[in-house]
Amino acid sequence: MKQLMAANWKMNKNWSEAEETASALADAVRGRLPEDREVLIFPPFTALKAVADAVQGEPGIAVGAQDFYPAENGAFTGEISPGMLTDLGVGYALTGHSERRHVLEEDDSFVGAKTAFGLGHDLRIVLCIGETLDQRRSEQVESVLSRQLEAGLAELPADISGESLVVAYEPVWAIGTGEVAGSAEIEAAHGFVRKKLQEMISPIASEIRILYGGSVKPDNAGAIMALDNVDGVLVGGASLTAESFSKIVLA
Ligand code: 13P
Repeated sequence: MKQLMAANWKMNKNWSEAEETASALADAVRGRLPEDREVLIFPPFTALKAVADAVQGEPGIAVGAQDFYPAENGAFTGEISPGMLTDLGVGYALTGHSERRHVLEEDDSFVGAKTAFGLGHDLRIVLCIGETLDQRRSEQVESVLSRQLEAGLAELPADISGESLVVAYEPVWAIGTGEVAGSAEIEAAHGFVRKKLQEMISPIASEIRILYGGSVKPDNAGAIMALDNVDGVLVGGASLTAESFSKIVLA
């Protein structure tokens, strides 16, 4: 299983800024990326082609989309299909990111429909899950993760490989706050996710990468990567410059 170091640029960077950052990142990691690690960049839709072109032919760097709509085509104004993404060289997509759940009000069943549709249409999916601060304070971490995994993976195509599905644990209270979850909290959550995957989809559960996201920075990435059941990171703010993100990638 290759570790996955992912950059979520969210709604940041125009075409030329994205191209510049992706090229600088490729320069910074070229020849230094360990064999067992890969890099993934989630630019905004408008910069996908620029980033796909900038990293084409770079070993170990892939491109993903932050969202898509679960249909092949049709009357869905403003939406983008998996086929439109794979056509650009996009290999991955996010589903269930906390900003889509909480700002765009996507519910569990829509997240599950997207996850299944994307996997069935040649995308690798990074399904994001995580509890809010209130839910943590009221000791609902496991029940929230359980519900999000069950709904998110409810309609999985039968023949998917472990490599095509990634789960990202991103506690909502640690996203963009500078407040990183503690080692014990991360290990407990990731251990729970692994156990739940084993119960739900045992043949591929051990091959599914579980990423941590939430205020990952160059100075904490190494310690987070060393934790049990942490197979990579999903980074927001600290992925916006090649200087900072390359330190995380090589941590
Ligand atoms: P930050 O790294 O800015 O906390 O964002 C995390 C995130 O939401 C990645 O998807």
